[in-house]
Amino acid sequence: MKNEMKFPDGFYWGAATASFQVEGGIENNDWSKAALEGRVPECGLACDHFHRYEEDFDIAKSLGHTAHRFSVEWSRIEPREGEYDDSAILHYRRVLEALHRRNIKPYITIWHFTLPLWFSESGGFERKDSPEIFARYCAYVVSRLGDLCTDFSTMNEPNVVGSNGWLRGSWPPFKRFSLTDMVSITNSGRQYESKAERGLMPLFLYFRVMKNLAKAHNTAYQAIKRDSPDTDVSVVKHVIRFDSNWNPVNKLKAYLANYFWTYLFMDRTYRYCDSIGLNYYFYTKFGDKTVHRKTDMDWNFSPEKIYDCLIMLKRYKKPIFVSESGVADAKDVMRAEYIEKQVIGTWRAIQDGVDVRGHMYWSLLDNYEWALGFTKRFGLVEIDYQTLKRTVRPSAEVYRQICLNNGLVSK
Ligand code: BGC
Repeated sequence: MKNEMKFPDGFYWGAATASFQVEGGIENNDWSKAALEGRVPECGLACDHFHRYEEDFDIAKSLGHTAHRFSVEWSRIEPREGEYDDSAILHYRRVLEALHRRNIKPYITIWHFTLPLWFSESGGFERKDSPEIFARYCAYVVSRLGDLCTDFSTMNEPNVVGSNGWLRGSWPPFKRFSLTDMVSITNSGRQYESKAERGLMPLFLYFRVMKNLAKAHNTAYQAIKRDSPDTDVSVVKHVIRFDSNWNPVNKLKAYLANYFWTYLFMDRTYRYCDSIGLNYYFYTKFGDKTVHRKTDMDWNFSPEKIYDCLIMLKRYKKPIFVSESGVADAKDVMRAEYIEKQVIGTWRAIQDGVDVRGHMYWSLLDNYEWALGFTKRFGLVEIDYQTLKRTVRPSAEVYRQICLNNGLVSK
């Protein structure tokens, strides 16, 4: 017997990308500078999506997508403080028109990780006035693109920016919280600046940055709404479901991890969200003895647990869209299963009362996976980085059937 898992009418299906990861030719931001310094891999032309977006949207259309999430590049739009580049706006207007011509609904992310150099070099989100600077930029983007797009997310994954940039030190601005380093730095009497790169200081800065990011979103929300009250403004949140076994210490760890990773930021911002974007990748259980299958990122293969993350967000009583969920799988041996299982997880959450409106697979194309360069392949479409040839992966066909059927039909 056929078991139908239909999604609500008007549900949007598609995929996501982000400017720096796919466009190519971006040279004026903190990541391109870090690459020049040899601290992260070079991004170069990436997928040359900047010039090939028509071809890429043809593929998205042929795959049954009805929505597409992408980000605009801050360093292109505001290359110097307060100076806006009209040609960048014109480019993104063309991108939006290209989506409309194919009847694909756009979702714009105004800021996806990369900062223009003038901002990062003057302190970025450590700056006291960063919320106002960010809000001004967001309001400008919506004022220039809002006639072609109704759904804007101010920022992507604030916690990932904070933890990789100020706790792990693996992303710009490469500050690392480390007690041992702090001792050796203090002993050798190094300057404040080196202390800020390692030691205890990054922890304080992390909390400051996280507070500024929440304020930046809230201020941007208000600035956007003043001029464009009908625009849907969201935040895109990376959510991990931290679980534990029976052990009370592990239970406490899971409670704190959920609070600091998800609830703290959402509690600060949900009043200024018309909707929430969920980015889901994996699940973690403290005290877990199970041996999990691993993706190419070495993350637990746990697509169905998207259900738990959607339930976690239910308390904010906002419409939710899955803004990213996907798997790095160069051989394309687990992607189809991943997609099906997380679609089932999403469907179950809807049955349990979560208001989910759309689903964006990460990613449409293989792309620049940040500090890991081009080694990880998340795409429905494979990119040959020598020739830039696009090849649709078999798993994209499985997703296409889901998009066309508005759900899963299993036997
Ligand atoms: C980010 C993407 C990234 C993906 C896979 C998300 O955290 O928004 O930019 O490529 O995860 O790591």
